This record gives sequence, structure tokens and C-alpha cells, in this order.
Amino acid sequence: MSLISPEEINHIKESNDIVETISKRIELYPKGKNFFGVCPFHDDHSPSMSVSKEKQIYTCFSCGATGNVIKFIEDYENVSFMEALKILADQAGIPLSREMIQKKGNEKNEALYEIYDVSFKFYHNNINTALGKPAKEYLKQRDISEAILKEFGIGLALKKHDMLTKLLMNKKFDMNVLMKSGLVARNEHGYLDSYYNRIMFPLWDLTGKVVGFSGRTYHGEKDAPKYINSKESEIFKKGELLYNYHRAKEEARKENKVIIMEGFMDVIRAYTIGIKNVIAMMGTAVTREQALLIKRMAKEVILCFDGDKAGEKATLSCSEELLKVGVTPKIVHLEENLDPDEYIMKYGKERFLGKLENPLNVMDFKLSYFKKQKNLSSEQDVAKYVNDVLEELTKIDDEILRELTLQKVSEESRLEIGFLKEQLTTKKAPPKPTETKKQTDRKLNKYDKAQMYLLYYMLQSKEVIRLYNKKITFMPNEQYRNLAFHISYYYKLYGDINISSLIDQFEDNRDLIRTLGEIEQLNLKENYTIEEINDYFNAIKEYNVKNGQAELQKKLKEERDTKEKVRIANEILALKVRREENDK
Ligand code: CTP
Ligand code: MN
Repeated sequence: MSLISPEEINHIKESNDIVETISKRIELYPKGKNFFGVCPFHDDHSPSMSVSKEKQIYTCFSCGATGNVIKFIEDYENVSFMEALKILADQAGIPLSREMIQKKGNEKNEALYEIYDVSFKFYHNNINTALGKPAKEYLKQRDISEAILKEFGIGLALKKHDMLTKLLMNKKFDMNVLMKSGLVARNEHGYLDSYYNRIMFPLWDLTGKVVGFSGRTYHGEKDAPKYINSKESEIFKKGELLYNYHRAKEEARKENKVIIMEGFMDVIRAYTIGIKNVIAMMGTAVTREQALLIKRMAKEVILCFDGDKAGEKATLSCSEELLKVGVTPKIVHLEENLDPDEYIMKYGKERFLGKLENPLNVMDFKLSYFKKQKNLSSEQDVAKYVNDVLEELTKIDDEILRELTLQKVSEESRLEIGFLKEQLTTKKAPPKPTETKKQTDRKLNKYDKAQMYLLYYMLQSKEVIRLYNKKITFMPNEQYRNLAFHISYYYKLYGDINISSLIDQFEDNRDLIRTLGEIEQLNLKENYTIEEINDYFNAIKEYNVKNGQAELQKKLKEERDTKEKVRIANEILALKVRREENDK
């Protein structure tokens, strides 16, 4: 349970207008009473998210994401409820109560976080001791200053094999959890450190907590892997985080630009020359989750991977994943197979900044990639080339970029642009599934509609809630029944209805939130008549009576006991009478 009072939560919420808050993060366009934007929570390509100033909620017509301003921040920034409140309080200049500042997460993985915290401090301290001299020398030689060393929390695992294990065991951590952390290992002699004699780069989760390490050799050992990452755990999932995300995200938002590199040394180097809106993939292929995260960071996304073949390949596959979620990245290609770190060291800040200022668009990058493998004086290769390019163009949303590329390819291949366009249309992929699976498209029968419409107006009007309470309506659909119950309960507590606050009461009940979104998407006319409302009630009643009857008929058929048979028959009769009365 949270320690903050509902009043404090409300105050923070009311001080942050949802339209303003969201439009600081994604572009919103006014349309009618509402605002619309491209939904950041799924692979949206056109504005499917509606934001209501009046109701102070958002809801996505495509993926169903729904919530108030707090929920938006939680999901957009990947933070807890508490952290979202802090962000909003900060945004509105509201001082936080002591409870909020002191609140520590009731994390289920608290022990793992603590283990990482202790280890982080231990490693970081080591590098500043006498034993850390050679490591520091190595870093100095790589032009890593004391300030950077501190900023990135770089540390050192010593040559002894059990220093950290001893420290952690002294702190009485559970042995099972220590093993889970991956920092302690076991061999025939007992427990020992997983890392020794490596420079330790902490890895953070999205909120900035240390959840893993990457340990680098620094003695020029040939047979050992250069980097060893700590193993995945409940708190460390490589495919869900991006190196330096927590530090980069503010700057990325300000500049509306984020730069993505392959390795963390590249990020650290970029930092030394003042580039702060930069993150790294850490040598793995980008996942859909990471692509969506990147999409939320900034509008302009620049890939600056290593200049070698592997980097080129990684650029292509990363672009692919980004395009799928609706991001058209730009690309910086570094010459001489250099990685950003090496490039900056060799050519300096100005030249590197110049490269960043002039990125290629993703299609130009692909064109030159395809061309490299072909001989364009051969007709066969030209045909292959054109096909490859058209294939890529089917993935691009940006119409201007498509047109420009077609022009280029038309010149190169001397094929009419009209012909190329025709080819492209025949290649075009069928419409995206997200566009067809809108929940509201589902065929609704009279009874579904009655429940949904009733809920829609309950969310608008106290009068309808009062009617609902009076009639003791039993909604047949469990999800709708649940939502109706919550609305009714909210009204009992506060004598009012407010969708945005209602959402807070849902805590993290996804079904409820989804159902609410489904209802809100109906977008019915504003005014209702009492007759309409009564029709909904009657339809629900009719359904219940019918259904009850069907069930009883079935029971009657199966029942062997005569006495019981009579009782059931009577019950059916009573239902019939009730129904006829209702119909009058
Ligand atoms: N990586 C890894 N394991 C390895 C090699 C690399 O996990 N054995 C990951 C690391 O996250 C690294 C990234 O892949 O940051 C890029 O690798 P690489 O280009 O080889 O490293 P550099 O960034 O060039 O590191 P350095 O300059 O220290 O050699
Ligand atoms: Mn490097």
C-alpha cells in the first residue's frame, strides 16, 4: 500500500493537465473535442490515441491502452506508480511530502537490488585503491578521466577470487539469492566470485538502478572473452534495457533526438565530448521492446554503429526492427571500420559532430549497401537491385522518402518512375493486422450493446449510476459487471464519478483498465434519454431471464428426482411470470 494520501495523489494529478503532459512527449493534434497522437505503446503508424481534456484520460483505439496522467507516465517512462507521482510533482513544482521522499519500494526483488548495490560500491571503491592502479592506468591510457570514471561508476574486480563473496556472505544475504545474482559462483571448493581481475562497467535498468555488470579484460589476455556480462536475472534482462537510457532520456527529449551505438565504450566516449543523448545496444540485436522504448525517447533516431561489416549488418537489422514500430531512423556510417570511440579518438570531436549533423536517410544507406554487392552494369544485377529496393520501400511509412528513393532508383536503373510505382503497389504488404483488430469492430449483439452503453453513461452521469444502484442490475458479462461494480463503489465513496480518479482505484488491474478503454472508445453521443437508459436495463433483464430459463430447462431434463423436477418446473413458471410483468 502506498503511504501517500489520496488527497495528495489528486492534488498532483490535478496540477498536471493530461494534454499538456502527453504533448510534451508525443505530438498531439486537436480534432473535435479531443486530441490525437501516434500511440507510443504499440507499433502505431497513424494517430490512434485519443486524449480527452475534459475527462483527463487517454485511450488508444488500436491497442486499447487506457489511463490517466499517472498511468501514462508509468507506462511511458517505465517507472512505478510512486516514481510517476514524483515526476508529475516535479513537473508541477509541488514539494513532496516526507513520506513520498522516504518511500522505498516494496520490491519483490529487493535483495537482488541490494546485492547489486553492495557489489557496485565494492567494485567502484577497489579501483581507487592501490590495487586498482594498473586498471586506472589502462583507463587513463584510453583517455577516460576521473570524472567519467565516477560518472559511469566504473569499478574493478580484484585478482583474489572470493573478496566479493565474503563481503556479501558477511552481510547475510540468502545464498540462493546470491547464486541468482550471478555474481557468486560455486566450484568444488565452495563459493567464489564470478568476476576477478576485470574492469567492471555497471549496467543500469531503465530507472537507473544497477542490475548487472560487464567485466572487461585489461591485461591483453588473448584466450578470455573481452567482455563478460553478468547473467540474466529477474531484474536484469538485456533485451529490455538500453545502456545509459536513464541518463540519456532527458537530453534526448530536449533535443528530440537520440543516438544509438553498439558498445558502451562508444557511449562513454561520446559523453566525454558532450554528447549525452546517446545509448547503446550492448552487442545484441534490438528487440521489439527496445524499439518501442527508443520510439518513446525522441522523434529523430540516429544509428551510429561500428563502421565494419558487422556494424553494417547490425545497422540493417536494427533499422528493420525500428521501421516495424514506425520509426524511420537516420544513419551515420563511419569510415575505415572504426567504431565511434575509435573515430572520436582518431579524428576528434568536431569531425564526429559533423558526421552526426549529416546522417544518411535509411533508404540511402540501404541503396549503397545493396549496390556494394552488385555490378550495376549487368542487367541481371540491376533487376535484382531494383527488386531489393522496392522490397525495402514496402516497409517505409514516410511518403516523401519513398518518392525520393523511387526517383533515385529510376535514374540509376533508367526505368520509368511510373512503372516502379506500379511494381511497388503490387508488392505492398496487406494491411497491418493492428488496423483490423479494433475491439469495437467486434460484432455486438443487443445484449452486449446494452451493457456497454449503460456503462458508457454510468461513466458520465451520476443519474445513471443511481439508476443502476436502484435496479440492482446483474450484468451478464463478467468484465462489464466488474467495471459497473467499481463505478458504483466509487460513487458510494465519493458521491461523484470521475474517470481519471477511478483509474487510480483500479491499481494495476489490467482487465478493468482494458474494459474501461473499450467502453470509452464507443464515443457515443453526449446526451442520453431516460428511455434509452431504461431500454438498456430491460435488455439486460431480458437476457438474464432468458438465460436463467435455459439453464433451468436443462436441469429439468437431467433431473431424476420427481420432487425436484416439480420444484424446477415451478421456478421456470415464476420466471415466465416475472418476464411477462417486465414486458408490460
Ligand atoms: N560485447 C559483449 N561481449 C563480448 C564483446 C562485446 O557483450 N565478448 C558487447 C558489449 O556490450 C560491447 C558491445 O558488445 O559494449 C560492442 O562490442 P565491441 O565493439 O567489441 O566493443 P567496444 O565497444 O569496441 O569495446 P572496447 O572499445 O573496449 O574494445
Ligand atoms: Mn572499441
